[in-house]
Amino acid sequence: MAADARDVRVFTDLEALSTAAAESIVAIAKDSVSQRGRFSIALAGGNTPKRTYQLLVERHRDEIDWSRWQVFFGDERFVPSDDKRSNYKMAHDALLSAAPIPPGHVHPIPTDTRTVGDAADAYDETLRDVLGGGDTQPSAIDLVLLGVGPDGHTASLFPGSPVLSERAQWARAVEAPTTVQPAVPRVTLTLPCLNGARNVVFLIAGNDKRPVVVEILQGGEAAQRYPAAMVRAAGRTVWLIEQSAAPSRAQNT
Ligand code: 6PG
Repeated sequence: MAADARDVRVFTDLEALSTAAAESIVAIAKDSVSQRGRFSIALAGGNTPKRTYQLLVERHRDEIDWSRWQVFFGDERFVPSDDKRSNYKMAHDALLSAAPIPPGHVHPIPTDTRTVGDAADAYDETLRDVLGGGDTQPSAIDLVLLGVGPDGHTASLFPGSPVLSERAQWARAVEAPTTVQPAVPRVTLTLPCLNGARNVVFLIAGNDKRPVVVEILQGGEAAQRYPAAMVRAAGRTVWLIEQSAAPSRAQNT
């Protein structure tokens, strides 16, 4: 497969998608640990990944070397970490509270800074410190999990946002979106970070996503305005789609 090709798989329901997603995460984690001695992952927010996170601990807890995991977040809403809108809270409740990851290996996006810009700057520094790498770019993240919104956003990269042209920083502040809820300012990883990843796996469910998913998978110039279409990992890009979000002619797994 060409480096910028997408591998698309369609599933009958969220349970089947989540089962496959959890298995992929386990496989990529094993491979990363055997090749580089660690596994770095950026977790997705929203609702779709929750079942995948639960399955990682329910079915795979004992086969995962959690001590090698370094956990980041693809985006965060600027709300306290115990707020029900917090992506960290969702990941904590579904996965992190039940997985024996060393506490120093979990890197939430801070939301207690004075401004959202301060949070983004602090997170950019965290990524550079933990991942290491050269002076200009940190080392690639092994696996970035992402979702797609009905407006074509991914992480907190929204259509038309000036943050889409960021080329240097790996984390940026984003104004409260007007197209989706919750309408609170956010911090997001940027395209240089997402596109530098060794693996990107999208988890997509719900028929509200179908129009945008169909348009993106058809390709063409116009679809390039969607941030989700701009993400092509340096390594592998996989779209795992629940069937109500998928083009009708797509084959189920
Ligand atoms: C967020 C996200 C966002 C999400 C998509 C899909 O914080 O809102 O990270 O990009 O992944 O909106 O969300 P669902 O999985 O809830 O449909």
